[in-house]
Amino acid sequence: MNLAGVAGLFLVKAAVVWALSDVPTNENFIARAQVTATVLGNFVYIDGGRVWQIDPDPVLNGFIFAMNSTISIDLTKTWTSRSVALRTIPKPPEIASRCKGHVWTDTGSNGSFYSWGGYWGVAARERVDETPRLYKFTADGNGGGNWSIVPSEEISPFGVLDTLHPAEAGAFATTSDGVGFVIGGKATPWTEKSRQRLEINGTRAHQMVPGMLSFDIKTKTFHNTSSSPALSGETNEHNAIISAVAHYVPGYGKNGVIVLLGGVASPVDKDVDAKFSEPIGFRNLTFFDPVTKESFWQMTSGEEPESPRTFFCAVGFDAGDGRYDILFFGGQNEERDLYYADAWVLSLPGFVWTRLENIPDEWAPGGRGMHSCVRVGKRQVLIIGGLFKSDRDPVPQGLLLFDHMSGGYGLRYEPNDEPYQSPSNVKAFYEKG
Ligand SMILES: *[C@@H]1O[C@H](CO)[C@@H](O)[C@H](O)[C@H]1NC(C)=O
Ligand SMILES: *[C@@H]1O[C@H](CO)[C@@H](O)[C@H](O)[C@H]1NC(C)=O
Ligand SMILES: *[C@@H]1O[C@H](CO)[C@@H](O)[C@H](O)[C@H]1NC(C)=O
Ligand SMILES: *[C@@H]1O[C@H](CO)[C@@H](O)[C@H](O)[C@H]1NC(C)=O
Ligand SMILES: *[C@@H]1O[C@H](CO)[C@@H](O)[C@H](O)[C@H]1NC(C)=O
Ligand SMILES: *[C@@H]1O[C@H](CO)[C@@H](O)[C@H](O)[C@H]1NC(C)=O
Repeated sequence: MNLAGVAGLFLVKAAVVWALSDVPTNENFIARAQVTATVLGNFVYIDGGRVWQIDPDPVLNGFIFAMNSTISIDLTKTWTSRSVALRTIPKPPEIASRCKGHVWTDTGSNGSFYSWGGYWGVAARERVDETPRLYKFTADGNGGGNWSIVPSEEISPFGVLDTLHPAEAGAFATTSDGVGFVIGGKATPWTEKSRQRLEINGTRAHQMVPGMLSFDIKTKTFHNTSSSPALSGETNEHNAIISAVAHYVPGYGKNGVIVLLGGVASPVDKDVDAKFSEPIGFRNLTFFDPVTKESFWQMTSGEEPESPRTFFCAVGFDAGDGRYDILFFGGQNEERDLYYADAWVLSLPGFVWTRLENIPDEWAPGGRGMHSCVRVGKRQVLIIGGLFKSDRDPVPQGLLLFDHMSGGYGLRYEPNDEPYQSPSNVKAFYEKG
């Protein structure tokens, strides 16, 4: 190699200090948010959303950090958020990442999940799919897997896909029988391309999606009902629920139940901000039977979590003796422009609310919203990413763990703990009768 060549090589090396990455180094990592996450076998899969990072070339990259791969984390070994191995699984270019989307998990075989809706994290509208599509990720049992587009001819009823809005910010859950749900949500020009379908009085607009969409994984059948289980009568006809959280509780009733938490009700015929929508409180809760679609309501006792509350996350644990605890963390209050740092447990069948420890300020400056969470190990909750009132996520890689039985919040994942037990004040509630 001649001298000019060596000099050229040196220049190139000096100029490209680092490249944008879906898994930036701890030093370059700023924040991660609006992801979906699920657990398949021994791995957590994190998909979609954005990853903000220290940008080597802000002019070129324009601060757009859409995730271009799916991340997996091994749950068989202990790790800490600082040292965790994040494996990236590339996505084919036709399966661009979306934010605030919905995921339906199939635990059969080595596991797979379906990705439905969400907005495109890359600003260019050219990336938005021309027609609605359903994506599938098939895990390989070793922390890897493949993405594919589910062919529309495999989906029933024939042609249904083209009639649906793959919206963002719906409440979603999957039953143990493999039926996925999305309740409500919002369609925008960034969730679908067709302008005509998103017009209100001749103007392109955000459009609230009323009702409830279900997808049977076994038969690949979509079913859309125009009424939503969370809203009653008159309200139901004119409103859709946005940014609520749905949680499937197995073993309650014949078919289990899906409990709806938080969110706001927005009118379907107006383009209104969540700020100006009706809050859905935590005192009178709605749940429904995922098979019969029959809905029920139940008043709760205990201190009521503050609302309006959107973009929080919930997980559930079997607490023994026929009891079940739903834990939820933080969230956003769009009306007052704040994030919550509190955490709660709703214990069933008592329908009693109990406060958990707040997320410490050290790890959620001014609260945390737009995060996701999954159950990991025997009894830990992995809280993934989020936004807060700070320039940077103080949690390495945005991976915060919670375990009320061993000190609350932390950065260490431990696969071999004892099984989950309810907090003592929840147990005390049942002991009192
Ligand atoms: C993902 O790809 C898009 C389009 O090429 C790019 O704009 C974006 O910066 C990439 N994201 C990351 C984190 O590398
Ligand atoms: C993923 O795709 C590769 C190449 O097409 C194929 O060999 C492999 O079997 C696929 N794996 C799964 C889990 O579908
Ligand atoms: C399931 O995972 C195991 C490894 O854990 C692998 O040997 C097997 O081929 C996988 N099956 C499929 C259908 O991918
Ligand atoms: C379901 O049907 C209702 C009523 O026709 C419609 O307004 C809504 O947009 C549909 N949902 C989806 C996800 O397309
Ligand atoms: C659309 O037009 C109807 C009838 O004029 C009106 O009542 C409604 O408020 C309009 N909606 C919006 C979003 O402007
Ligand atoms: C609880 O909400 C439902 C509608 O979801 C309503 O029918 C019921 O009357 C409410 N219960 C009370 C006690 O307010």
